[in-house]
Amino acid sequence: MPEFSKGLEGVVAAETQMSYIDGQQGVLEYVGIAIGDLARSSTFEETVYLLWNKRLPTQAELDAFTKGLRSHYDPPAGVLEMVKGLPRDAQPMHALRTLVSALALFDPNPNANDVASAREKALRILAATPAIVAAFDRHRRGEAFVPPDHDLGFSENFLYMLNGTRPTAAMARAFDICMITHADHGLNNSTFTARVVISTLSDLYSAMTAAIGSLRGPLHGGANEEVMVMLNEIKSVADAEAYVMNKLKNKERIMGFGHRVYKAKDPRASELQTLARQLAHDTGNMGFYEKSNAIEQVMHREVASKGIYPNVDFYSATTYHCIGLKLDLFTPMFALSRLAGWSGHVIEQLEDNRLFRPTTNYVGPHKVAYTPIEKR
Ligand code: COA
Repeated sequence: MPEFSKGLEGVVAAETQMSYIDGQQGVLEYVGIAIGDLARSSTFEETVYLLWNKRLPTQAELDAFTKGLRSHYDPPAGVLEMVKGLPRDAQPMHALRTLVSALALFDPNPNANDVASAREKALRILAATPAIVAAFDRHRRGEAFVPPDHDLGFSENFLYMLNGTRPTAAMARAFDICMITHADHGLNNSTFTARVVISTLSDLYSAMTAAIGSLRGPLHGGANEEVMVMLNEIKSVADAEAYVMNKLKNKERIMGFGHRVYKAKDPRASELQTLARQLAHDTGNMGFYEKSNAIEQVMHREVASKGIYPNVDFYSATTYHCIGLKLDLFTPMFALSRLAGWSGHVIEQLEDNRLFRPTTNYVGPHKVAYTPIEKR
């Protein structure tokens, strides 16, 4: 019997050419390029091209890819009709999961999962999902939907559809950096989920829907919302130390810290920290940044020796808050970006598929006599 690894820690379950992580050194590369270089110099569209094609595009290739993405910004009319029927108090992640699943109902050939079809569907899902998230948020506010502007980039267009006004260049760029930094991350739980689903030769919609369900959990993408809850609970910078110490004393987790793979500071956290500081300064939210910084210092003193450092979710909370996003949209933002990684992994899985089917260690009894119900 192979050895049991709880939580599959240390198990190599797939090969990828997309992202590389060195958890000891705090390195993340997409196709060999450092995440910091991409955050500073690339765009989300270019990053998606890189992940899906394993190389940077030429200008002509990027133009063609961007044009293709923009041509699919509009979700099917039937999906937008479904948005109007959803309860206004539904949580956005539940709405997102339902509506991405519903996209399959409007695809005449939803099960096609040859690599060319999967790439085409991936492009359509990635392009249409921002409009779905924006439409649901406007629906619950009782506002009319704002159709996409096909002249705008992915990030700028999303903020435009959400708010009904074009974001400033600085806000659009900040959001784009968030999209770049969240796009892919090895075999994280939701990516593994997507690969497991497609390995049955199911369809891309099922794989994306399942991945969204995985991402929602507070131990995964849901942590960014929990970080904001914590920052709201801590009333002032001076209260941060007592808050953290109390949680640690009670063996509770500080959200936005710790990682299965990183035992050093997550490089995405470093990029987002720089961004959060600037945005907090520009939007009069320095309190959130300073509270975050105070938490990080206490955590460093108390638990850095155990390899617990800030992860991607810690400073993304302040960043999203400064961009003006509501708390329960934080995890959907993660999903908008990670759709790129999930679908890239699904394509890799389809290119060299073998069904995922691990085994269990049976630890129950054997040879138990069946007791008739009246004798139990
Ligand atoms: N705050 C305080 N202690 C933490 C911690 C945190 N955020 N994350 C891990 N630890 C501690 C655990 O209590 C445990 O301590 P112990 O050995 O004394 O019992 C030790 O570190 C190992 O934790 P474990 O749960 O086994 O690690 P894991 O690899 O299974 O979990 C996470 C990884 C991400 C699930 C975990 O770090 C966590 O829950 N973090 C908070 C949620 C979060 O930010 N998730 C987003 C990840 S990108």
